[in-house]
Amino acid sequence: MVATPYAYFKKQFLPLSEAKIGIMTHAFLYGTAVFEGIRGNWNDDDGQVYLFRMAEHYVRLRKSCRVLRIEFPYPDEELHSITTKVVEMSGFREDVYVRPIAYKSSEIIGVRLHDLEDDFLVFVTPFGPYLDIEKGARCCTSSWRRVEDTGIPARAKINGIYVNSALAKTEANLNGFDEAIMLDERGHVSEGSGENIFIVEDGKLVTPPPSSNILVGITRDTVITLARQELGLETIERDIDRSELYTAEECFMTGTAAHVTPVVELDHRPIGEGKMGPITARLQRLYFEVIRGNNSKYAHWCAPCYSKVKA
Ligand SMILES: Cc1ncc(COP(=O)(O)O)c(C=O)c1O
Repeated sequence: MVATPYAYFKKQFLPLSEAKIGIMTHAFLYGTAVFEGIRGNWNDDDGQVYLFRMAEHYVRLRKSCRVLRIEFPYPDEELHSITTKVVEMSGFREDVYVRPIAYKSSEIIGVRLHDLEDDFLVFVTPFGPYLDIEKGARCCTSSWRRVEDTGIPARAKINGIYVNSALAKTEANLNGFDEAIMLDERGHVSEGSGENIFIVEDGKLVTPPPSSNILVGITRDTVITLARQELGLETIERDIDRSELYTAEECFMTGTAAHVTPVVELDHRPIGEGKMGPITARLQRLYFEVIRGNNSKYAHWCAPCYSKVKA
């Protein structure tokens, strides 16, 4: 069977190619939408796509909706079943990316959040590696600062906020780097254009706190949990200076798209040995085992999508 991407759109399941919004949709005009990115990881032995931490992604989407005053009346079970059904109907036998969006759907001019209709959609698309997880990323400190909570709250995954990320990412790429690391307005390390940041210091993990204007990542939480439970490593959440990244023993980024990607160079300075460090390597190995459904202890994080699987 040839795989075809499907969407859930205006309360119907339909091929992605048929799911179209009007050009006056408020979310398109003003960025008034919130979203999630959920990875579906293909497990060839099981003949299964596992959605990683879908429940936690919907918890975050609900919080984002509160910030943007988006009505989101769907119960968890309905969200989970819509999402697994979109993947199952699509029939991919490879890694996929699922994008739920809750958005201001009125077709109307007028910048505001109130007195507008809201809607919800989900679509799926194939999605391979985002950054080079083996070789690692060469990064720069962005000249763009991360938006502050007093401007657009970064803890909400707001579509319009991604202009900040896009400015930083394109500047980095056009200057020959793989990824940008943004500072907050106080000059502390915030995050990458689509990733949280960790350093390794004296055998401990250190990562910026939510008050550094980060999106509080689900991969970040996964790594903190695996480090503590499986490797006995503590994570300290505190402000990090730019120069601490230069002198860190190891540095890596986490994100649904980026997985666990080593940062091997920043602003033309090698970090550590200039290649993936030993703690990053151990965490990355463990993380891949977990997200593909190959570690039974964390099976509750992996939601299977296909109801009929290989015997
Ligand atoms: C700006 C930003 N920070 C961090 C992350 C990592 O979050 P998560 O691990 O939940 O994907 C993402 C990706 O969604 C992001 O876009």
